[in-house]
Amino acid sequence: MTTLTAEVSLTDAELKLLQTLVYQECGMHFDERRTHFLRDRLQRRLKACQLDSFYSYYRLLTSHEGKQELAALLENLTVNETSFFRIRPQLDLFQKTILEEILKRKQERRDWTLRIWSAGCSTGQEPYTLAIMVCDALAYYYLRNPLPFEMPTPKPLIPPPWKVEIVASDISYSALLVAQQGIYNEQQMDTVDYTCRLRYFDKLGDKYSVKAGLKSLVHFDFHNLKTEFLPQRNDVIFCRNVMMYFDEAEQKRLIEKFYRCLNAGGYLFVGHAESLLGLTKKFQMVHKDSGTAYQRLEVRE
Ligand SMILES: C[S@@+](CC[C@H](N)C(=O)[O-])C[C@H]1O[C@@H](n2cnc3c(N)ncnc32)[C@H](O)[C@@H]1O
Repeated sequence: MTTLTAEVSLTDAELKLLQTLVYQECGMHFDERRTHFLRDRLQRRLKACQLDSFYSYYRLLTSHEGKQELAALLENLTVNETSFFRIRPQLDLFQKTILEEILKRKQERRDWTLRIWSAGCSTGQEPYTLAIMVCDALAYYYLRNPLPFEMPTPKPLIPPPWKVEIVASDISYSALLVAQQGIYNEQQMDTVDYTCRLRYFDKLGDKYSVKAGLKSLVHFDFHNLKTEFLPQRNDVIFCRNVMMYFDEAEQKRLIEKFYRCLNAGGYLFVGHAESLLGLTKKFQMVHKDSGTAYQRLEVRE
């Protein structure tokens, strides 16, 4: 152990070892354009651990005692950029077309459950946006198609007997903590209009706090998308701006997992800079007014 101020040199062999370890652990792939970022984060973690070589750091990461440091490194490598109502055309497709179709289909079967998974939810803006959109979609649906049951007063966010669950997961514990608190500043609320603020947020000093009713619909959990133990039986999966950090082989594996995590006829949304094109034949593209989603096809395995 030593106290270090200058940067410790990182050899190509050490970089390769660490790159491979990160890839194996979480699927993130650092190509030439992103190795500068990786080098920078590795230097920071080496300093924080007060180690004098990257090989010692690698040995720490691969040891039993190094589990916490491995989580800290992965956390430092994630990009957590997100916002409320991000990429409106995709959300419009989700709310106006896909949700409408799912609600109708489920009501006909008297299946009153709706389950949506936000995979890679970062600090929570995406799953809370989805919760708001589902509440509004249900209210609008039953304005036009009265429920075959008596509606309690005051009207609940989710009309019974519907049961809505939004599962939101990430690999970053610090992002999940912020998400669970559900408190956002004015800048983060920039894309939330005032009617939405009034209905779904409480003012907390100069910040906004997600109301308890909306919060109760979202369940946050740690899930590493690299593993096989992922939330099942979803009607819709949102995994936006996550796959872009994976290489093609890992993207294919992830799409296969999403296929298995979706109910028959379920939908997958990826980021607007991401696509399933050339990666799978098990989904069919749905495109409307600049919004794109992918519907699970029922193929024989
Ligand atoms: C750029 S954010 C996207 C947030 C949100 N989906 C959106 O589009 O606004 C990417 C998120 O994916 C998470 N992530 C990256 N690799 C992951 C993995 N292997 N398992 C789970 N989450 C991961 C990161 O921690 C980060 O919060």
